[in-house]
Amino acid sequence: MANDRIDRLQRYREEALAGGGEARIEAQHKKGKLTARERIAVLLDEGSFVEMDMLVRHRCRDFGMEKQRIFGDGVVTGHGTIQGRKVMVFAHDFTVFGGSLSEAFAEKICKIMDMAVKLGVPVIGLNDSGGARIQEGVVSLGGYADIFLRNTLASGVVPQISAILGPCAGGAVYSPALTDFILMVKGTSYMFVTGPNVVKTVTHEDVTASDLGGARVHNQVSGVAHFLAENDRDCLEQTRRLLSYLPSNNLESPPVVDTGDRADRRDSSLDELVPDNPNKPYDIKKAIDKIVDRDTFFEVQEGYAKNIVIGFARLAGKSVGIVGNQPAVLAGVLDLAASLKAARFVRFCDCFNIPIVTFVDVPGFLPGKTQEHGGIIKHGAKLLFAYCEATVPKVTVITRKAYGGAYDVMASKHIRADYNFAWPTAEIAVMGSKGAVEIIFRKEIEASDDPAATEEAKIEEYREKFANPYTAAERGYVDEVIEASQTRPRLVQTLELLATKRESLPAKKHGNIPL
Ligand code: HXC
Repeated sequence: MANDRIDRLQRYREEALAGGGEARIEAQHKKGKLTARERIAVLLDEGSFVEMDMLVRHRCRDFGMEKQRIFGDGVVTGHGTIQGRKVMVFAHDFTVFGGSLSEAFAEKICKIMDMAVKLGVPVIGLNDSGGARIQEGVVSLGGYADIFLRNTLASGVVPQISAILGPCAGGAVYSPALTDFILMVKGTSYMFVTGPNVVKTVTHEDVTASDLGGARVHNQVSGVAHFLAENDRDCLEQTRRLLSYLPSNNLESPPVVDTGDRADRRDSSLDELVPDNPNKPYDIKKAIDKIVDRDTFFEVQEGYAKNIVIGFARLAGKSVGIVGNQPAVLAGVLDLAASLKAARFVRFCDCFNIPIVTFVDVPGFLPGKTQEHGGIIKHGAKLLFAYCEATVPKVTVITRKAYGGAYDVMASKHIRADYNFAWPTAEIAVMGSKGAVEIIFRKEIEASDDPAATEEAKIEEYREKFANPYTAAERGYVDEVIEASQTRPRLVQTLELLATKRESLPAKKHGNIPL
């Protein structure tokens, strides 16, 4: 008798593990994709996965569905560990009804999200789904909304990461969009609100799924995705790496890792990095790589708004969020996309107790009709708002230009940055010397006997006054002017000093970030 009971359990488990069956698993592999359980095995520490709700089945009685009640119902959920730390995970199983979302499916996801918030552990979603379970109709839409609500309530409480490993269409894209990070896989994943067929009907545009919402599009054009992966395995490994920089919840600090890199390491090549000519570009990523712990810089949104660089790194083993203007792209100017990209990242770091290190070399906001009509006022204000609001330790390094409003925005002392460094190459001014002279000395230059010589003399005078860090240092707008080669040890020391920082916002329901 007891054996019968055990056999029954065994049989059910085997059925659940078989998912949609051999042929569908083979079809999944043929597309270059892993199955839901294979993905979980790559994502989590070996042998750590514990499956929950394996025996859940849908309750639909229409369209012959009562004859196909597969255990698990198209989503594998449970918990496990990544680098020894607890995570909750769900993985759509495309081999079962195309991973489409039913009422029972949604309940499984909601259950692990509720547990994640209660326990303070991250949620990782592996998405590969045909969207709402068509046979279930509106019940499935309700299931999505139940998930959206939980995504929103969990935001800022536990990190939420979405890997897109197949189709993700319709309103289903809004669950990943509400999470903190989206990773997509080249060639096999796509996200769109309406697919190519609907686009064709409504706008008569011919577009393929990948041109409409493939991994490249969302990593380079829309900025919806944060990471681009070569294949499933790469995507899951990147997810593990991302998590290593994050705390498990908003009440914890990120894990500290021994990177083996000496805190007092100085790199003298940094003193030569910034060219004498202020119009000559250089690569801020080179500076970042030389300053942070070796091989720890993990760039976020690498392919989008390249004029600003964001990412995680470690300094003396501790996680930091890096924001840096990139002089090598559009001179590091702040535009619509760069403002949005950096603003969201600053807010993420602030949610999860990750100190922010900002490298400044910015000629200002990008002028022009496209920018103004696109709302650079409100988008630029988002970045300003994000920096003003952030209470985590904020350390700033002005490497060269800090011009105009962009000086204020990029974690200036005035908006509560805690410690501001400038390199001797810093130029802190309302604008570049040439532009400034053309405005304030135009009449004097025109009236002079030798306009070219007068202009040159005025530019020199303005440069002498402002194209350096000393006027700002005199007023305490920068705390220290340091040789570039000193940056690493001074950052490590300063972050140590700021580790006990306590700062809070005035009591309020929430601010009103200019959306
Ligand atoms: C039920 C579905 C399904 C769905 C796919 N399947 N999508 N079952 N509901 N939404 C089933 C198929 O019947 C098939 O079953 C199996 O999954 C694999 O599907 P295929 O079409 O054979 O696979 P493929 O050729 O790879 O195409 C995948 C696909 C396509 C592009 C995702 O299936 C598709 O277009 N599906 C419909 C997508 C859609 O319109 N969904 C609703 C979006 S609206 P068998 O038994 O043959 O293996 C939405 C609203 C959400 O989601 C709103 C939230 C607010």
